[in-house]
Amino acid sequence: MKIAIASDHGGFSLKEELKKHYAKQGLVLEDLGTHSEESCDYPLVARKMTDALLQKKADLGILICGTGIGISIAANRVRGIRAALLYNAEVARLAREHNNANIAVFGGRMQKFEDVVKYFDIFLKTEFEGGRHERRICELDEMGV
Ligand code: RB5
Repeated sequence: MKIAIASDHGGFSLKEELKKHYAKQGLVLEDLGTHSEESCDYPLVARKMTDALLQKKADLGILICGTGIGISIAANRVRGIRAALLYNAEVARLAREHNNANIAVFGGRMQKFEDVVKYFDIFLKTEFEGGRHERRICELDEMGV
């Protein structure tokens, strides 16, 4: 499974910590930027990630901005993208089971590294349930966005 990661400046330091943590476990997160603390625009960062997913260069993504909100709004404008802001363990599980989320979102200025790792580990190991949730996801893609 290929996993990409991207952030704006508000998520840069969390992105770097996550890359190091998962590399130690043998999981390379493909870094789509940004590459410094210099200010940049989260919609453009989100776009890099949504392009990578839609072009099947990655299977899942992690997006981080300061709050997790701006980058979620941006990513979720793209058809086929389901970006979920993971703020507790149950939400991390349900984001996969019910929403088949393909991007885990975090707030780099709001969330603790240990919590983020805990939520992403749950997200990674949880499967989509399908069934009625499949129908709802199809309905999302039928919306005029
Ligand atoms: C950048 O200062 C900040 O606005 C951004 O990281 C994010 O929190 C937006 O929602």
